[in-house]
Amino acid sequence: MTSTPARNTTTWWRESDLRHHMHPFTDTKGLAEAGGARIITAAEGVTLTDSEGAKFLDGMAGLWCVTVGYGRKALAEAAYEQMMELPYYNTFFNTATPSSVELAEKLAEITPDGLNHVFFGSSGSEANDTIVRAVRHFWNLEGKPGKKTFISRTHAYHGSTMASASLGGLAAMHGQADLPLPGFVHIMPPYWYDFGGDLSPEAFGLKAAQAVEDKILELGADNVAGFIGEPIQGAGAVIIPPETYWPEVQRICTKHDVLLIVDEVICGFGRTGHLFASEYYGLKPDLMALAKGITSGYLPLSAVMIGDRVADTLISKGGEFYHGFTYSGHPVACAVALANLKIIEDENLVQRTHDETGPHLAKRLAELADHPIVGEVRSLGLIAAVEIVKDKANRGHFDDLGATGTRCRKHCLEGGLILRSVRDTMVMSPALSITTAEIDRMIDILHRALDRTAKDVGMG
Ligand SMILES: Cc1ncc(COP(=O)(O)O)c(C=O)c1O
Repeated sequence: MTSTPARNTTTWWRESDLRHHMHPFTDTKGLAEAGGARIITAAEGVTLTDSEGAKFLDGMAGLWCVTVGYGRKALAEAAYEQMMELPYYNTFFNTATPSSVELAEKLAEITPDGLNHVFFGSSGSEANDTIVRAVRHFWNLEGKPGKKTFISRTHAYHGSTMASASLGGLAAMHGQADLPLPGFVHIMPPYWYDFGGDLSPEAFGLKAAQAVEDKILELGADNVAGFIGEPIQGAGAVIIPPETYWPEVQRICTKHDVLLIVDEVICGFGRTGHLFASEYYGLKPDLMALAKGITSGYLPLSAVMIGDRVADTLISKGGEFYHGFTYSGHPVACAVALANLKIIEDENLVQRTHDETGPHLAKRLAELADHPIVGEVRSLGLIAAVEIVKDKANRGHFDDLGATGTRCRKHCLEGGLILRSVRDTMVMSPALSITTAEIDRMIDILHRALDRTAKDVGMG
């Protein structure tokens, strides 16, 4: 007879988890075969602790979101105080709460000029669904009901609901749910390393931007609602576009009266060393999606920033917008967001990323560029990627794409570092509160993991 493990032990958590819990983006059968989930029980700064006491440097800030690091009392206190005062009320039917009002004003103040209205949700996916709804409503009100199609890019990630996964450009997601829905099309991303061929990055950036115009012309501008892009494609493997790309995309969207929608769910709130990557690339988005770093992941919250042109039409001509979520503008999430933005400001985390930690990461990454299986390193601020390849000279990938990245990720984990691998690219986005010493530790562990991976594949 097998005995039942005691409750609240690692064995019990793992077994119960396998019995009842279906995880996102997880092969449940594979998880069982691997012995079950790692149970994370605590965290402080950039360090996670699991139920067996093992410690890991979190090189991903959770899922690109724990911007101010773990263990911030001020955020817990903000949540506690708001819960004691008013734990919940909605923002439907002509009501508001002080923290949702205050956060909307703050976001209008700190986001790029012209973005003065906010629609709250609880996730990046909801933000992007909201954008699809608002933009289609906008063009109907403008008397251009043909303008319904959204142009996005392959390797894009915009969320996991039906509309946001349709905006996304991940074939594996599309395949399981007969996506994209009608009205969503995809073009090539500005991914010089994979698609640049013999072109310089600058020339390739223009070519990738031209793909936007080509698609607009193919569909007819009268049928195109908007173009959506992450300034840097995060989940697609930290694709940092050549400098020529975004100014040209902006020009093309303006020329054809196609709304420019910027998904700053990962890039926003300082990740690139700029409060918003739109500032760095000189973008003037019509709409912007925000989430993750808005609360540093302490509570779920997202915001769509709606530019004046779209907001004016929706407000002056739109009547009631039949859209919203029970938790839109949740008072506790908004209070935590305000406290989180205060930490980012008080500790100068954006400037520090720009001046100190971002350049330090870039310098340490550059040391990996000569490694026999590293094809390219790239970073902006504290978002970075290391391309693992078989053939450096020709930018040639390993045949079983993804397997080598998975090996390297495993070696990182054994060394006490959590990174993510996308195809064979190692990606990282640590908390902006990370120190230069912690960056050194992260890169040292990654370096050893790359050595071991090279040995595994007979190249070390
Ligand atoms: C750029 C981007 N947009 C949207 C999303 C979706 O956010 P959520 O998982 O909160 O729905 C993500 C999530 O990783 C993202 O990276």
